[in-house]
Amino acid sequence: MSKITYIEHNGKTHTGLTVMEGAVQNDIPGIDADCGGSMACATCHVYVKEEWFNKLPKKEDGEEDMLDMAFEPKKNSRLSCQLIVSDQLDGLVVNLPEKQV
Ligand code: FES
Repeated sequence: MSKITYIEHNGKTHTGLTVMEGAVQNDIPGIDADCGGSMACATCHVYVKEEWFNKLPKKEDGEEDMLDMAFEPKKNSRLSCQLIVSDQLDGLVVNLPEKQV
Protein backbone atom coordinates (compact mmCIF):
# COMPACT_ATOMS: atom_id res chain seq x y z
CA MET A 1 0.00 0.00 0.00
CA SER A 2 1.40 3.39 -0.97
CA LYS A 3 2.01 6.06 1.62
CA ILE A 4 2.09 9.82 1.07
CA THR A 5 3.52 12.39 3.48
CA TYR A 6 1.93 15.85 3.67
CA ILE A 7 3.88 18.68 5.31
CA GLU A 8 1.92 21.74 6.39
CA HIS A 9 3.54 25.14 5.93
CA ASN A 10 4.34 25.11 9.66
CA GLY A 11 6.22 21.80 9.30
CA LYS A 12 3.60 19.49 10.82
CA THR A 13 3.45 16.20 8.90
CA HIS A 14 0.56 13.86 8.04
CA THR A 15 0.35 10.68 5.97
CA GLY A 16 -2.42 9.29 3.72
CA LEU A 17 -3.21 6.67 1.09
CA THR A 18 -3.84 8.81 -1.98
CA VAL A 19 -2.86 12.37 -2.74
CA MET A 20 -6.05 14.50 -2.72
CA GLU A 21 -8.53 11.86 -1.58
CA GLY A 22 -6.16 10.62 1.10
CA ALA A 23 -5.80 14.16 2.37
CA VAL A 24 -9.56 14.68 2.56
CA GLN A 25 -10.19 11.29 4.17
CA ASN A 26 -7.52 12.00 6.75
CA ASP A 27 -8.61 15.60 7.47
CA ILE A 28 -5.28 17.01 6.35
CA PRO A 29 -5.56 20.77 6.88
CA GLY A 30 -4.85 22.76 3.74
CA ILE A 31 -6.36 20.45 1.11
CA ASP A 32 -10.02 21.41 0.88
CA ALA A 33 -10.65 19.97 -2.61
CA ASP A 34 -13.74 22.15 -3.02
CA CYS A 35 -14.50 20.89 -6.53
CA GLY A 36 -14.14 17.24 -5.61
CA GLY A 37 -11.31 16.62 -8.03
CA SER A 38 -12.70 18.09 -11.25
CA MET A 39 -9.76 20.51 -11.68
CA ALA A 40 -11.89 23.58 -11.04
CA CYS A 41 -10.73 25.05 -7.72
CA ALA A 42 -6.96 24.71 -7.00
CA THR A 43 -7.69 24.17 -3.29
CA CYS A 44 -5.76 20.89 -3.58
CA HIS A 45 -2.55 22.64 -4.70
CA VAL A 46 0.66 21.04 -3.41
CA TYR A 47 4.39 21.47 -3.95
CA VAL A 48 6.00 18.17 -4.87
CA LYS A 49 9.46 17.43 -3.50
CA GLU A 50 12.11 17.80 -6.20
CA GLU A 51 13.11 14.13 -6.27
CA TRP A 52 9.53 13.09 -6.98
CA PHE A 53 8.50 15.69 -9.53
CA ASN A 54 9.73 13.89 -12.64
CA LYS A 55 8.12 10.61 -11.56
CA LEU A 56 4.62 12.09 -11.70
CA PRO A 57 2.20 11.85 -14.62
CA LYS A 58 2.42 14.85 -16.96
CA LYS A 59 0.08 17.81 -16.41
CA GLU A 60 -3.01 18.20 -18.56
CA ASP A 61 -3.58 21.65 -20.10
CA GLY A 62 -6.41 22.35 -17.66
CA GLU A 63 -4.19 21.65 -14.68
CA GLU A 64 -1.64 24.25 -15.75
CA ASP A 65 -4.43 26.82 -16.23
CA MET A 66 -5.84 26.12 -12.78
CA LEU A 67 -2.40 26.26 -11.17
CA ASP A 68 -1.99 29.75 -12.65
CA MET A 69 -4.83 30.78 -10.31
CA ALA A 70 -3.40 28.99 -7.26
CA PHE A 71 -1.60 30.79 -4.43
CA GLU A 72 2.10 31.20 -5.29
CA PRO A 73 2.44 28.50 -7.94
CA LYS A 74 6.00 27.21 -8.41
CA LYS A 75 7.63 24.97 -10.98
CA ASN A 76 7.00 21.98 -8.69
CA SER A 77 3.30 22.80 -8.18
CA ARG A 78 0.66 20.17 -8.90
CA LEU A 79 -3.03 19.72 -8.24
CA SER A 80 -3.12 16.76 -5.89
CA CYS A 81 -6.48 15.64 -7.33
CA GLN A 82 -4.66 14.84 -10.56
CA LEU A 83 -2.05 12.63 -8.90
CA ILE A 84 -3.22 9.05 -8.87
CA VAL A 85 -1.20 7.16 -6.32
CA SER A 86 0.48 3.98 -7.44
CA ASP A 87 3.27 1.83 -6.10
CA GLN A 88 5.65 4.03 -8.11
CA LEU A 89 4.68 6.95 -5.89
CA ASP A 90 5.06 5.12 -2.61
CA GLY A 91 6.79 7.52 -0.25
CA LEU A 92 5.81 10.69 -2.14
CA VAL A 93 6.22 13.85 -0.08
CA VAL A 94 4.31 17.06 -0.78
CA ASN A 95 4.39 20.47 0.91
CA LEU A 96 1.31 22.61 1.30
CA PRO A 97 1.23 26.31 0.36
CA GLU A 98 1.22 28.83 3.21
CA LYS A 99 -2.28 30.14 2.37
CA GLN A 100 -3.83 26.67 2.49
CA VAL A 101 -4.41 26.03 6.19
S1 FES B 1 -9.90 19.35 -5.99
FE1 FES B 1 -10.41 21.09 -7.13
S2 FES B 1 -8.74 21.32 -8.48
FE2 FES B 1 -8.23 19.58 -7.30
